[in-house]
Amino acid sequence: MVQFEYSAGAFIFLKERGSSAFKLLLLKKSNGEYDIPKGHIEKGESSEQAAVREIREETGIHATLLPYFHSDTKYFFRKGKKTILKHVRFFLVEAEDDRVKISFEHKSHEWLDPNDFRERIKFKDIVKMLPEVLDYILRYMQISKINDEYASLPKNSKSWDLSSRLVPGEGPLNADIMLIGQAPGRFEDESGRPFIGRSGRLLDEMIKSARMKRNKLYITSVVQFFPPKNRIPTPEEIRLCKPLLIGQISVIKPKFIILLGNVALEAVLGMKSVHAHHGTVIENGSTTYMITLHPAAALRFKESKKIMQQDFEKFGKEIKRGTTNGA
Ligand code: URA
Repeated sequence: MVQFEYSAGAFIFLKERGSSAFKLLLLKKSNGEYDIPKGHIEKGESSEQAAVREIREETGIHATLLPYFHSDTKYFFRKGKKTILKHVRFFLVEAEDDRVKISFEHKSHEWLDPNDFRERIKFKDIVKMLPEVLDYILRYMQISKINDEYASLPKNSKSWDLSSRLVPGEGPLNADIMLIGQAPGRFEDESGRPFIGRSGRLLDEMIKSARMKRNKLYITSVVQFFPPKNRIPTPEEIRLCKPLLIGQISVIKPKFIILLGNVALEAVLGMKSVHAHHGTVIENGSTTYMITLHPAAALRFKESKKIMQQDFEKFGKEIKRGTTNGA
């Protein structure tokens, strides 16, 4: 009879100072095999909690898991007379520095560049996961760089009238679907997260009616700073902030982009009047654009909410046809 076991672990990477290169942590076990930190999920623990605990026990690193990423694997092995099917969930962790304190379970550790890591590790399932893991780390470093640039823009000049707090895009960095709004509101400014106020709650309803899941979408805005009194951002503000949005699009490379409202429609496609174009689906190379109203409009007018709902239902069906990763 097959028994099941559940484990969790992580790929731990360390950025090299002043370059876009990084290293991965490899542990050498007492039997000479190489592995990455992982271990049993204890009773009452989530896979995230187990990964954080195992990392601390095996490396001394107090880890924060990168949000949205995990990669699962499973394999059979024999334990005495029993056959075990082991499920393992791996997360991603960025190390702050190269300090590692190994436990009695390991003989040594090494920080290796991705090619050396691939050569050294013999577990086939980990080797198979590597392209996805390396791709995600690269995207994470690219997004962090561009967000950091914007977060540290000099905002003390007289002409800067937006909030000083960046509300960056949020979601998986390899999402198939991106949603683009106008600019954060007061709640978003306070929390640093997009679409979590009243507009966000209405957007959540729309996402549900399209049979999508919010945690599979990358959600952002054209201007990622709160314009005081919720005013529409000025053309100059849009011009200044657009490179951040374009950077996010080029890192995430979504298959589908849903444009919410006039500001997003004009900034991305150079088109005017969301009321004239809502419900439209435009295929352009490898990206399909979908146009609808901004949730703030749908909050104000019943008719707009109905329109937005119908658009989202339509988009949900289109996306289902075009991907297996959207719902
Ligand atoms: N409206 C937007 O356009 N963006 C947000 O992040 C929140 C509300």
